[in-house]
Order: sequence, then structure tokens, then C-alpha cells
Amino acid sequence: MAAILGFGGYVPERVMTNDDWSALVDTDDEWITVRTGIKRRRFAADDEATVDLAANAATKALDDAGLSAADIDEIVVATDTPEAYTPDTASFLQHRLGAREVPAYDLGGSGCAGFVQALDVARARMLLEPKRILVVGVELISRLMDWTDRSFCVLFGDAAGAVVLGPDTGKAELLDVVAGTDGSQTDILTLKTGGTRHPFNEESLKSGAYHHLDMDGRRVFREAVHRMSSAVGEVLERTGRTMDDVALVIPHQANKRIIDAVGHKLDITEDRVYINVHEYGNTGSATVPFALWEAREKGRIAAGDFVVLTAFGAGFHWAAAAVQF
Ligand code: UT7
Repeated sequence: MAAILGFGGYVPERVMTNDDWSALVDTDDEWITVRTGIKRRRFAADDEATVDLAANAATKALDDAGLSAADIDEIVVATDTPEAYTPDTASFLQHRLGAREVPAYDLGGSGCAGFVQALDVARARMLLEPKRILVVGVELISRLMDWTDRSFCVLFGDAAGAVVLGPDTGKAELLDVVAGTDGSQTDILTLKTGGTRHPFNEESLKSGAYHHLDMDGRRVFREAVHRMSSAVGEVLERTGRTMDDVALVIPHQANKRIIDAVGHKLDITEDRVYINVHEYGNTGSATVPFALWEAREKGRIAAGDFVVLTAFGAGFHWAAAAVQF
């Protein structure tokens, strides 16, 4: 059995509103609100980096589980905005938390689907060998994005979320996870520069290509709705449940319109869909674990609730998880 023993979430203090953005780029509150539902987001302080956000969320998850870092047998971090190019953020986090010399690794590059994919990997690892695994989704996008490109900069925020999985009886059981990838769609959401095909050079530095995301927003939108809702259907089928059993769906928080469209496709009322994108924007692989933590904190999840997590990300990846509280 894979139980969730503890939940944690962290956002930095600095608030960046839509009006703050309109003072910097040619945008306004109305455009951002109508197209995305986002009103504000949090940005890390200058002296914060990815591992600081991750450690804050991880510490809360450990406290919630009544465990210390010494009790952790493995660490997985999902991020596309790592502490350093190499080594991975999980190494920094292992040291920061004072964990034992356990396996620690990142799942990077899968965009916003990273955390739910990491749950899939961690759950499988746990079933092979009972152990306690810290799973973190963290993103510090504000540090790496192009602050002059209005098409992207207004969408994102910084955050971290974490869970501790374990074989013991916990607060919830991670019943199943499904995941998939359509690699024919790498072009619809990609940051090419910095890889071996398009290495960093003087030209990419001058042109700003090193932090330029290529995104076909409309195709991403369509794929996101299709894949997140079908992944929910798949995980329900595998767990022998129906939408009537679902107390709450926690979708990746990229855009309120995408979330609404997923809710519509799943034919559920808005009170059974968790939404916080207006407060924090799109925080990549952190949205799902952060929302899961926040939903519990706000009393939106009660004992006995059946909750479904669903996410999509660059790749194109998708994943969904079934959680029984
Ligand atoms: O993890 C990342 C996942 N990415 C996503 O989830 C993105 C999914 N897609 C979307 O959410 C939507 O496609 C967006 C919110 C990104 C864009 O909405 P849209 O309705 O597809 O707008 P658009 O890209 O077609 O742009 C419409 C207009 C354009 O102007 P013209 O060409 O019609 O004159 C843009 O230049 O809006 C303009 N525009 C803006 N205007 C004011 C683009 N960004 C902004 C902005 N403020 N920030």
C-alpha cells in the first residue's frame, strides 16, 4: 500500500498583481483576467532559489507526517527550474534537509505534469520495497522567464508543494496513478535553447532566446483539456470508481478557462473542482501538490473523500492520480 503520510506547501511572500505587470509590459488586468483567470502570483525574493522553496514545503510535509528528515528513504523532485543545471535539485534538498545518504533524483523537463509523474514513479518504487519517499513539485519560474514577453510572463508564479509517501497507514491512500506522453507534440510547448541541439551561445544570449518559450497557446489549451479529462476517466476506470464518487478534482492550475473546460467535460459542478489559479498563477509542477496541501488546510477535503489529481505538461505529458482520504 502507498499511503500519503503528510502534505506541505509553500509560496514566497512577494505578491505580483496584474496591475504590477501592466506597469512593466503592455498588458492589463482585464486581458489577463478574461484569458486566464489569474489576478496575482507570488515571486521568490532575490535571495531565494529553488531549494529554498522546496525545503520549506518539504519541512511542512515532514511535520505533518510527524517525521524528521532522517526517516526519509528516498527523495524525488519534479522541477523545470532547478537550483543548478547540474547536479539536480534533489541533491541540494537532501543536504539542506539533513536527510540520510538516500537515493535522490529529479524528474525534470516534463513541465507541469512533473509532480503527478513523480507520484507514479515513487508509488511504483514503494511497492517494490516499502519505504518512505519525499515527493516535491517546485518551480521558481520568475527567475528564468523573459520579463519583457507579455505572452508568457503574466502566466506564471513561484511555489512548492510536497507529500511524504509511506507504507504505513496514513492520512490518505494513493490508490493508482496513470500517465502518458505524446512526443509528436514537443513543438507546442518548448524552451529549445540550452540543450545540445541549440546550445547557449553569444547569439542566443543577445537575442534572449535562452529564456524564450515557444508555445502554441491554442493547441496547448486543446490538448490540456482533452488529456487532463481523459486521464481522470482512465484512473477512475482503473480504481473502479465513477465521477459520482469524486469529492474533489485537483487539476493543474494553468488557466481558469482550461480548468472550467475540464470540469465541463467531466460534467461536474465547480464546487467539486479546486481552483486557486487566481491567487498564484501557473506554478508548473508545484500547482498540484500545493493545491492539495491548501485544499486540506482550507477544510476542502474531509476524511473519507475520494480525490483525483490531474495534470498536463510540455512533452506532451499527462497524468492523473486517485487518492482516497
Ligand atoms: O505550462 C504552460 C501551459 N500553457 C498554457 O496552459 C497555455 C494554454 N493557452 C492559453 O492559456 C491561452 O492560449 C493564452 C492565455 C496563453 C492566450 O490566450 P488566447 O486567447 O489564445 O490569446 P492569443 O495568444 O491568441 O492572443 C490574442 C491577442 C494577441 O493580439 P493580436 O495578435 O490579436 O493583436 C496577443 O498579442 O492577445 C495579445 N496578448 C496580450 N494582450 C495583452 C498576448 N498576451 C497578452 C497580454 N496582454 N499579456
